[in-house]
Amino acid sequence: MDLQAKKIALRKIPHGVYVVGVKQDRELNAFTATWLTQVSFTPPLVALGIKKDSHSFEMIKRDRVFSVNLLGKHQKPIAEHFVKPATVLGEKLKEVRYRLGRTGVPLLEEAIAYVECEVREIANEQGDHAVVIGEVVEAGVHKDEPALTLTDTGWHYGG
Ligand SMILES: Cc1cc2nc3c(=O)[nH]c(=O)nc-3n(C[C@H](O)[C@H](O)[C@H](O)COP(=O)(O)O)c2cc1C
Repeated sequence: MDLQAKKIALRKIPHGVYVVGVKQDRELNAFTATWLTQVSFTPPLVALGIKKDSHSFEMIKRDRVFSVNLLGKHQKPIAEHFVKPATVLGEKLKEVRYRLGRTGVPLLEEAIAYVECEVREIANEQGDHAVVIGEVVEAGVHKDEPALTLTDTGWHYGG
């Protein structure tokens, strides 16, 4: 395989940029994610690719709930903040306004919209990222406007 072609082709898959909120008991965390897509209408399911060695994956495996916070076009700085690992930055949510959702996960006050999900399945034994399939059990819209995409940020995650 032409590895350069593989990289360029995979990076052409369009993606959004989200802040995924997680919890484990009373600990909260959130991280920037882009590998997310809807995978069923009924029930409403989303699939999230999550790094197996991240702190958030440990948390998601335990409490089996997560939020997806959608950002507006000018909210790249929020995504930038949540890229850093909790192990380096400590309490990432401390400078950010949020409330707890119905499932106890953090919902960013500044996000344009959100969904809350309960984990139904965790797959992808081979990969360096697990695929977490979550059922959307709650949703809200703060501002009905276009969402931030990976292309808007100029970043890459993939290839
Ligand atoms: C543009 C971009 C997209 C990212 N997308 C994902 C993703 O889809 N899934 C994931 O697990 N990590 C993704 N990351 C990496 C996480 O944001 C990063 O590993 C974070 O530090 C994890 O936080 P935690 O260790 O506090 O859980 C992405 C990073 C960047 C820069």
